[in-house]
Amino acid sequence: MIHTLEWTDHGVRFLDQTKLPTEETYVICSTPEQVADAICTMIVRGAPAIGVAAAMGIALAAKNSAAESPDELKDEIDHAGELIAKTRPTAVNLFWAIQRMKEKLEQVRTQPVAHIKHALIEEAQRMHAEDIAANQAMGRHGATLMPSSGGVLTHCNAGALATAGYGTALGVIRAAVEQGKRIHVYADETRPFLQGARLTAWELMKDGIPTTVISDNMAGAMMRQGKIGAIVVGADRIAANGDVANKIGTYTVAVLAREHRIPFYVAAPISTVDLACPDGSKIPIEQRNVIEISHIGGKQIVPDGVSIENPAFDVTPAKYLAAIITERGIARAPYPESLAALAGKTKVEV
Ligand code: MRU
Repeated sequence: MIHTLEWTDHGVRFLDQTKLPTEETYVICSTPEQVADAICTMIVRGAPAIGVAAAMGIALAAKNSAAESPDELKDEIDHAGELIAKTRPTAVNLFWAIQRMKEKLEQVRTQPVAHIKHALIEEAQRMHAEDIAANQAMGRHGATLMPSSGGVLTHCNAGALATAGYGTALGVIRAAVEQGKRIHVYADETRPFLQGARLTAWELMKDGIPTTVISDNMAGAMMRQGKIGAIVVGADRIAANGDVANKIGTYTVAVLAREHRIPFYVAAPISTVDLACPDGSKIPIEQRNVIEISHIGGKQIVPDGVSIENPAFDVTPAKYLAAIITERGIARAPYPESLAALAGKTKVEV
């Protein structure tokens, strides 16, 4: 069992993803500031995981508060929310989680301060449990789309490490394997942060799921050689028209999949669907430090002074998707209708 993040009596405990795969160490954050830092530095990463981390960061603000009135506590919660909202702009789950915690506070605002604090801590823990249940449901829906045997390619890490547990894209693969499908995963290494090589390979090895790591520029050749029967990736934000923001390089994989007539699936919880965002052009794309490109393992690999770009995500237009797998069912084109219908459905209960 992989414990990506957990609420403990001492604070939020994160498996430090910057140290994997060579070191399995944990970091305890006892303040919202420390949680914000853990999100920025990618100790915790992946859209659903940073959503749950944000909720727990706000729960820490409640736990640590010396506020004597609900209004005073609300100011502190708002402040923690603002701080955490500044960490990473693309994954909508972060903002969804902050909003949900604020709504919880509104629901119980007339209660004594101790009760409000307790309700916020409970809500963050509920979001953790709900995320695992959503991933398992997503797995059940998505497994039906996986081939009975052969290669399935994934990009980045949309696994247990990117969620509270089980994973979205890797949850679909896990469920398919649990059903007896003989899947061999091809994991794109995912330059520059190497989530595929370091994290996807690590967690699939732990589960005994056969995995081959390839560098990103090998994906097209693997498809052409007939080694890939399906592709499944996660998402950081899905616009109302079905355009998908995910780890940089996802767009390239989707275009290659179309050329080779390989189905390209996106697996994500409903909390990743942003119906307020009309299309992919409106999704904010995080630009990360250029040192992630100029250096590998601390060693400089490009000349001093050269221009570098480092967008962390790209947008795949909806026309490349075979389907979007959610915990509430499978959405197919036309996405404006199918996503809106799923978003309106009853949520999966824990
Ligand atoms: O920069 P990261 O590692 O947070 O990016 C993660 C991804 O792009 C994932 O594919 C996405 O968040 C979905 S995780 C279930």
